Formats: sequence, C-alpha cells, structure tokens
Amino acid sequence: SVLEMEVEQINKGNYEHYMQKEIHEQPESLTTTMRGRLIRGGSCKAKSVLLGGLKDHLKTIRRSRRIVFIGCGTSYNAALAARPILEELSGVPVTMEIASDLLDRQGPIYREDTAVFVSQSGETADTLHALEYALENGALCVGITNTVGSAIARNTHCGVHINAGCEIGVASTKAYTSQIVVMAMVALAIGDDTISSQARRESIIDGLFDLPNKVREVLKLDQEMKDLAKLLIAEQSLLMFGRGYNYATALEGALKVKEVALMHSEGILAGEMKHGPLALVDENLPIVVIATQDACFSKQQSVIQQLHARKGRLIVMCSKGKASSVCPSGSCRVIEVPQVEDCLQPVVNIVPLQLLAYHLTVLRGYNVDQPRNLAKSVTTE
Ligand code: G6P
Repeated sequence: SVLEMEVEQINKGNYEHYMQKEIHEQPESLTTTMRGRLIRGGSCKAKSVLLGGLKDHLKTIRRSRRIVFIGCGTSYNAALAARPILEELSGVPVTMEIASDLLDRQGPIYREDTAVFVSQSGETADTLHALEYALENGALCVGITNTVGSAIARNTHCGVHINAGCEIGVASTKAYTSQIVVMAMVALAIGDDTISSQARRESIIDGLFDLPNKVREVLKLDQEMKDLAKLLIAEQSLLMFGRGYNYATALEGALKVKEVALMHSEGILAGEMKHGPLALVDENLPIVVIATQDACFSKQQSVIQQLHARKGRLIVMCSKGKASSVCPSGSCRVIEVPQVEDCLQPVVNIVPLQLLAYHLTVLRGYNVDQPRNLAKSVTTE
C-alpha cells in the first residue's frame, strides 16, 4: 500500500536500500555496542571491560576445557574473526562449529566446554538445535545475539546482546561488525589481567574507543568501491584471499558478494593457495588479497608476488601508505584502509567489501535487500 511504502521510505532515511543504510550506520551501531561496557582507566583504575550478562560466569568460562563457537553464515564468520584474540587472551583452546555440521556429526560436547552461540536473529533453527544439543550435554551455553527475548537469548545460561539495532537487509552488515567487537570484549573479559598482557589489553581498549572513527574514515571509500564494482560488473567469479585475523574477512567478503550480487565468490585461506586455488589463477580472474599490517604481512607479500608471477588480476587491500610495499610495480589496484589494532582490523577491512557487494548488486540490477532464494532468518532446518 501507499502507506507501507511511505513508512519504508521514512525508515530508510536518505538511503535507497536498507543494506546501504546499515553499512553507513556502522560508526553509530558500533558506538551503541560498546556503550557502558568499556572503562577508561583513571589514575588508579586500569582500563577494563564490563559485560553485565557474563560477569557471574567468567570464572567458569576461564576454567573450561575449551570454548566452542557455534553459528551459521555471517555469524559464524564473525566468530572466526574473533577466534585469534580469544585464544591469545584466554589461553583456552577455541574451536569452530557450523551449527548444522555439529548436528550432522553429533560432535562431542562436554560438561567442561563453554559453547558460545552467535546469531543475529537469535532464531536460526540450526543454531537453536545445536543449543538444545549442547544443553543436553551439560556445557555452559553463552548467547551472543542482536535480539532481546529471542529463543537463543532466552535459552542460554548467560550472554551478551550486541545492541546493533534492528537489521533489515537480508545480508548482515552492521551486526557482523558489532559481533566481532562484542567477542573482542568477551576476550578481554575472560583474559586475566596479568602484568604481561596489560599493554596489549590497553591498546585493544584504546583501539575499541577509536574504532567508530576509523570506520567513518573507511566509509569514505564508497565512491572508490562503486568504481571498482563498475569494473567487475560482468565477471563470473571473484576470489578473496586472507589469512590470520583476516581469513574471516575473505570468507565474509565473498559471502556478501555471492548473497546479494549473485556472483560466484570464494574466500580462500591464503596459506592454502598452493594446495589448489593457484590452479585457477590466470590473467582474467579478479582476486582480492587482504594484506593489511599484522604479523602475517610478509607472508601475504609473498602470496601477492606468486599471484603476480602468474599474471593474476590483483586488487590488494593494504594499510594506508603501504601501497608501494604490496604493489611495487604499480600494476595492481589498491584499496588503502586505516590501520587499527591487528585484532580489530577485520572490523575496518570488511567495510569496503560490503560496499563493493552493495554496488555490484545495484549495478547488476538485483534486489539488494531481499536476494533471490534467501531469508533473513532461517527458522527451518
Ligand atoms: C541467514 C541470513 C544470514 C545470516 C544467517 C545466520 O542465512 O541470510 O545473513 O548470517 O542466516 O543468521 P543469524 O540470525 O543466526 O545470525
């Protein structure tokens, strides 16, 4: 009806699509996610994190034998992005489970496990069934959702709401970045505040405070991503290479492109390049390589060289000012992003790829907010 259409227009504000609005909203949604949860160190007080919904269970989580992340789609990718920092700060082994696969295998879950269920909607059937399964097996169950009162929020023992605000576009964008931030805060909350980890913890907290500004900065790449989308509009396929903190960025960037732009796209762990993917490389296939500054940077440089030697069509994402160290010959396209603390870099790096997927979709003439065959919340198995 006309009224419904008008209400929609009001909800979208100045944007044409919800996905576009939600991408550009991220500086604000991230601020809301962190509000009241980060404590700036005063003269005597160390910087710290306060997560009300977890505080009574932190001891149990610290003592657990392992932490298992369980989710589907984008929520799984967000957990994968947070895994390295959780391992580093907690020292507890962290494993990953796609909810349906855990159920298919009836994989072992023990009383000594902490199972963390990540879900934007809190209603995804596979994740919910995996929760029932973990509860039966006696694990401590933690929920990380965006929906207060959802089935996963209600049935877990404890948890954290990501407070990203209502997400309407089927392709998840702002929930992804808020999920990563929440899990980084969970890592800080679980990790012991030892002298040796203090500097690292403080720089992560400083990094969190400044993250909305960095996301605002990276959003300025909008037009550049639109220009890149114009170049890629007729491609059949797009590969994305990442590793370390940004393996998840490659998977999530590729998921965005396939979900909404209906283009085949695959996220590839760069360390696996020689075990198959290299065979695909020629002068036609476009490849995004994520090579921002972190401990894996020199390994990524050598991946770029090898792709280059096979005449790969490279689009390299690097930290600001580092273009010449990822593309000495000047022959690849470069996306320069602001540098942040390494474990938070996935939050910044996904934004240009969200913009790319968005513009590709509009240019290819597909439905951005309701992609063919997909649903926002998959409540059947
Ligand atoms: C569907 C949606 C995805 C989402 C996934 C998991 O596939 O289209 O955007 O990532 O479900 O949803 P959840 O609500 O559990 O995060």
